[in-house]
Amino acid sequence: MSDLFNITVTVNGTEYERAVEPRLLLSDFLRHELGLTGTHVGCEHGVCGTCTIIFDGQAVRSCLMFAVQANGHEIQTVEGLGTMDDLHPLQEAFREAHGVQCGFCTPGVLMTLMPFLEENPDPTEAEIREAISGNLCRCTGYQHIVDAAKLAAEKMRA
Ligand code: FES
Ligand code: FES
Repeated sequence: MSDLFNITVTVNGTEYERAVEPRLLLSDFLRHELGLTGTHVGCEHGVCGTCTIIFDGQAVRSCLMFAVQANGHEIQTVEGLGTMDDLHPLQEAFREAHGVQCGFCTPGVLMTLMPFLEENPDPTEAEIREAISGNLCRCTGYQHIVDAAKLAAEKMRA
């Protein structure tokens, strides 16, 4: 077993300290070390986008980073958006516009859209499609995701 490295990472506003192997992926750290299984893992090589999280304000693929690279950084995962009783407007929009079917891709789509909509609060459909072009969905055919993103933009502007 390789040497362990001590890291401190803030996730959804809580600071965590852990000793990790240098080869541990950030996606596995979130899921297995912190129990935050809302971040899904599909391809594990940067193609599907389902592992997307917000890292220092930017959407990134957590399967393409090592946990040690997160030392001293701030992360938001889907668990940090809203709760069952108090959904974030982005989540409400996905529920109302049927942007979810099996839900496997959904956390990655939401975490991709969060920084996008903050930066571009009134996007065109083409801009939304471009923003989610790195998130693969095998169920929806994307139209409902696009509709949900438009509705979310409206709600987040209100
Ligand atoms: S699991 Fe990270 S991009 Fe597919
Ligand atoms: S809702 Fe099933 S993969 Fe997107």
